[in-house]
Amino acid sequence: TVGQVDFDTPLAVPPLAESTRDAAGARVFNLEIQPGTVAFKDGRETETWGVNGPFLGPTIRAKRGEEVAFAVHNGLDEGTSIHWHGMHLPAVMDGGPHQEVEPDGVWAPQWTMDQPAATLWYHPHPHGRTGKHVYRGLAGMFIVDDDESEGLNLPSEYGVDDVPMIVQDRKFNGDNQFDDKSSFMSMQGVLGDEIMVNGTIGPYFDVTTRLVRLRLLNGSVSRLYNFGFGDDRPFALIATDGGLLPTAWETRSIQLSPGERAEIVVAFEPGETIALRSNPADEGYEGPLARFNGGDDLLDICEFRAAETLADTTEIPETMGAAPDLAEAEVAAERSFSLSGFNQINGESMDPMRIDFAVREGTVEVWEVQNADGFMHNFHVHDVQYQVLTVDGREPPPRLRGWKDTVQLLPQVKYRLAMRFEDYTDPNLPYMYHCHILAHEDSGMMGQFVVLGEGE
Ligand code: C2O
Ligand code: CU
Repeated sequence: TVGQVDFDTPLAVPPLAESTRDAAGARVFNLEIQPGTVAFKDGRETETWGVNGPFLGPTIRAKRGEEVAFAVHNGLDEGTSIHWHGMHLPAVMDGGPHQEVEPDGVWAPQWTMDQPAATLWYHPHPHGRTGKHVYRGLAGMFIVDDDESEGLNLPSEYGVDDVPMIVQDRKFNGDNQFDDKSSFMSMQGVLGDEIMVNGTIGPYFDVTTRLVRLRLLNGSVSRLYNFGFGDDRPFALIATDGGLLPTAWETRSIQLSPGERAEIVVAFEPGETIALRSNPADEGYEGPLARFNGGDDLLDICEFRAAETLADTTEIPETMGAAPDLAEAEVAAERSFSLSGFNQINGESMDPMRIDFAVREGTVEVWEVQNADGFMHNFHVHDVQYQVLTVDGREPPPRLRGWKDTVQLLPQVKYRLAMRFEDYTDPNLPYMYHCHILAHEDSGMMGQFVVLGEGE
């Protein structure tokens, strides 16, 4: 079996990115994309890429209403980009294939944070090479705060009771290097047999509080996780991709496909030791949950070791975020998307020079998305968070009722997604939509749209 580990290494917690203020009051972050090496196992060095360090990147944290500015320097010897996954921002700042940074180049995006508190992330998005770059180690979290979230008494001390968890799998070759060759362009992409959290293999975390909030990110290139605890204890799902749920949902398992996030709050007893795992896919609302992409594996993820005395000062509030409100909205356009063959959407592969369609500023659209294959895809849209209206004609399960930007597509099932395009018009520069299984994305399972203003 894969993924059985001794939990013998303290969990690394990515540092918070430092920032300065410029004369106009914007927070300025310097991000240095660089090669490096890390001794992940057996004391032998693995070649990696990272941001401000050898592997992964710092956690960026900013508040709604703040202006953020970045100086992204590419210290690699090939072009790359930094895309802000889940962020509402102008297309020119999006960091997709049209904003690639040449070797030794600097890219300086800047925007005003304008969305509810959420756990977002950043990763490269160069045309055709996203999987390789993420696999090498380029990724980090981006936490958005707002007044409402700061007013709640949720666990929120970073690295203490509010813990980022970038969960990724890796396959190592005989030389202890990341093996992204073997099956990378096959149907499901590479599945690693080593699981790392924030770059730590076999991690444990010392728990000092009764309630702990975990910000789970599936940062893998193709693996599916069904997160749960070793004793099957219940926990609270408090947030999905786009932010806090209106009320917490108690569950024992949360499924995340590549790119998706979930915030959960779990309660610990003094002195106990318990593991977060990925359990083999179970029967669920949608029938048998996908067993694709490693979803049937039993994986050890991280061990939690509770102290004999636990601080108990936080709680899960009755009400948290605002409920998605697009179910009754007037719909300006409906579109349908069929994902097939691991490289096509509606029969076409990504062409960076082709704009597939335009949406109108200030309108709500409903996109009906279907996986035409017998294996797994998911669907991510840039710029917006969407509301899942129906799954197979029915009300979505609780885990899909909050704001989402990535959703798993079970074979042959129709997902109706409602989204509002509020602002940031640009007739020339597109946003992307795509499968977030990176082998599929890189093979062309992606399209582009622009947002047009009045009269454009
Ligand atoms: Cu997480 Cu288009 O990407
Ligand atoms: Cu796919």
